Amino acid sequence: MTATVRHLLRDDDVTPQEQAEILDRAAQIKARPFSDRCLEGPEVVAVLFDKQTLRTQVSFAGAIAHLGGFPLVIDGKLAQVGVRESIADVARVLTRESRAIVWRTYGQERIEEMAAHSSVPVINALTDEFHPCQILADLLTIKEHKGTLAGLTFAYVGDGANNMSHSYLLGMALSGLHVRIGTPAAYQPNAAVLARAVEIASGTGGSVTIVEDPGEAVTGADVVATDTWVSMGFEKEKESRQGSASPFAGYAVSSELMARAKSDAIFLHCLPAYRGFEVDADVIDGPQSVVWDESENRLHAQKAVLSWLIEKSGGERR
Ligand code: NVA
Repeated sequence: MTATVRHLLRDDDVTPQEQAEILDRAAQIKARPFSDRCLEGPEVVAVLFDKQTLRTQVSFAGAIAHLGGFPLVIDGKLAQVGVRESIADVARVLTRESRAIVWRTYGQERIEEMAAHSSVPVINALTDEFHPCQILADLLTIKEHKGTLAGLTFAYVGDGANNMSHSYLLGMALSGLHVRIGTPAAYQPNAAVLARAVEIASGTGGSVTIVEDPGEAVTGADVVATDTWVSMGFEKEKESRQGSASPFAGYAVSSELMARAKSDAIFLHCLPAYRGFEVDADVIDGPQSVVWDESENRLHAQKAVLSWLIEKSGGERR
């Protein structure tokens, strides 16, 4: 019997139980880095970037190599997916020659189309709408520092309409956290994503709260997170988002804002970080910051998700 191919295109492509399985696997893999070699040959995993990258390229290359495979990094400017040839044709080609496809691109509909024509797992390495691999790394980091996930209060302040906000809503709700987003009225999360997060939270014991006041968002939180105000693909809005009239001016994570959270709260940032804009140097470089653990955990989380998807799609775990 052929197993149905599994993809990770958005955070809720896995159930709460499956997300917990992946996180447990990530913790095991972190403790024994070369224990899970599901690729051999070495088999190729295609890793395609239409946008800038550092952490994602390094962590996927490492993850694929550690699993016994060969990371074939493809520059999206050369491949020109959807321009030089259709997304469907690229999917058909890559499916024949690789064991999985990892793609960082623009609109979510592009990766949905890739997955629709792929018979190997497709992993979202960031789109305009979601960044599910980052959230797995963040959950792993929170669990390491707090010992638990369900019931914690997670606060994200800044751009509520970006990929991190959407993935935090879904991914944190899956693990039963109380998710608070502090964002200006003009940057509210996508209504359908928000509704989905509320639905997930109702089944996991978590909750979802959207507020405009950043202080209200972080008050009593166990975890505080932020992200750049100028996401990739939005560079034309740099002046309006980061300039003197920035709508996010009051949303910078300063030590005063951190002081509203619990005294043992940790600070997360997916990076790259812009000190003096969304976060002050004394916070990101201070004792509550766990951003370097978070960055390293990309590697472990991605090894777990890649080996899990291959296994669930009918591949063996060796
Ligand atoms: N929101 C950011 C995340 C970077 C990892 C962006 O899309 O650029």
